[in-house]
Amino acid sequence: MRWVAVVGARPNFMKIAPIYRAAVKHEGIEFFLVHTGQHYDGGMSDVFFDDLGLPQPDIHLGVGSGTHASQTGRVMVKFEEAVQEHGADLVIVVGDVNSTLAGALVASKLRIPLAHVEAGFRSYDRDMPEEINRVLTDAVSDFLFTPSEEASSNLLKEGIEKDRIFLVGDVMIDNLFANAGKAARSGIGKELGVEKGEYAVLTVHRPANVDSHETLSAIIDALRELSCRVRLVFPLHPRTEKMLSRHGLLEDLRAIRNLIVSRPLGAMDFQWLLTNARLVLTDSGGVQAESSALGVPCLTLRDRTERNETVKLGTNVLVGLDGDRIIMEAEKALSGSRPEPARISLWDGKASERIVEALLARRDSDRGGFRL
Ligand code: UD1
Repeated sequence: MRWVAVVGARPNFMKIAPIYRAAVKHEGIEFFLVHTGQHYDGGMSDVFFDDLGLPQPDIHLGVGSGTHASQTGRVMVKFEEAVQEHGADLVIVVGDVNSTLAGALVASKLRIPLAHVEAGFRSYDRDMPEEINRVLTDAVSDFLFTPSEEASSNLLKEGIEKDRIFLVGDVMIDNLFANAGKAARSGIGKELGVEKGEYAVLTVHRPANVDSHETLSAIIDALRELSCRVRLVFPLHPRTEKMLSRHGLLEDLRAIRNLIVSRPLGAMDFQWLLTNARLVLTDSGGVQAESSALGVPCLTLRDRTERNETVKLGTNVLVGLDGDRIIMEAEKALSGSRPEPARISLWDGKASERIVEALLARRDSDRGGFRL
């Protein structure tokens, strides 16, 4: 059986890696990897393939950057051609990026069974383009693999049939387990000159946070103040770097004395940095879950999150871009002891195995393909 996985952006590579590892253990599954080219810089793409032991993509669509319509549309056109040429018994899409939605629309219209991994996440904030990608991808998927009970119940509320929903846990957590040993050997701490437990790490790339001068200035002001209390490490996403330059703020950021600006980091270096941080500030989805699982206090620079379970656990606090709130919550986290890593039963490193098992159980041995 040919399982065609569509990946395009940095978090996709993370999510597909454990699924690839679980699938190729089974004889009879041919895992066919399609890279859309949404992310193309070495530091946003190649390094993840190397770090995570992913094979080179079977096909590279090379779509690159663009507006939502042009990027999504170009992936659709090229992916449709690829699937028609190479065939697929199943298409797997992961997460919520434009490549996810494009792959899902193509598969569903070609009537190829479609699996969505990380189904059911909802921030209920349509200002996030990812929220639109999530809702639409889930609506057309045949197999919806959810990371949490809340995600499953979000799908039921949208009228999705129960027997299409599979609660399997979070594949991002699979990576933490699988990569712990390799990440521990990363030399990034030495390279950046930071000691374990003595710094905070920051990741920001959402358009709502980085695309305007006003929000970027608010972030820089908060960082300037925070840097008086703790050393900061800030790996810059290319979008963020571009926006800082466009708004003439890159030098203001670099001028903050106790803040280290770094290139975007690979999976192992980032896992080392996160594991050993005193605190993390982020607007990423995956980092909220990873930090909760590692017991690193997380402040999320957003007003809403699709990862509510981390807020309920108390390992994650939504602070938005309110400077006073950021400083207050950071001081609280820095003065307290490190929280226990969150224990969630399905955060056991085996979500990907459950996904592959569930798919294999739904094979139609009489007619080939899947029972939908
Ligand atoms: C995308 C996803 C977002 C995800 C993020 C992870 C969508 C709508 N957004 O956001 O959900 O959290 O990836 O990183 O799919 N760029 C480069 N080099 C690259 C890639 C991008 O320089 O390899 C720059 C380009 O200027 C590009 C900009 O970053 O225009 C934004 O890239 P894009 O893929 O459109 O969205 P992200 O912000 O990366």
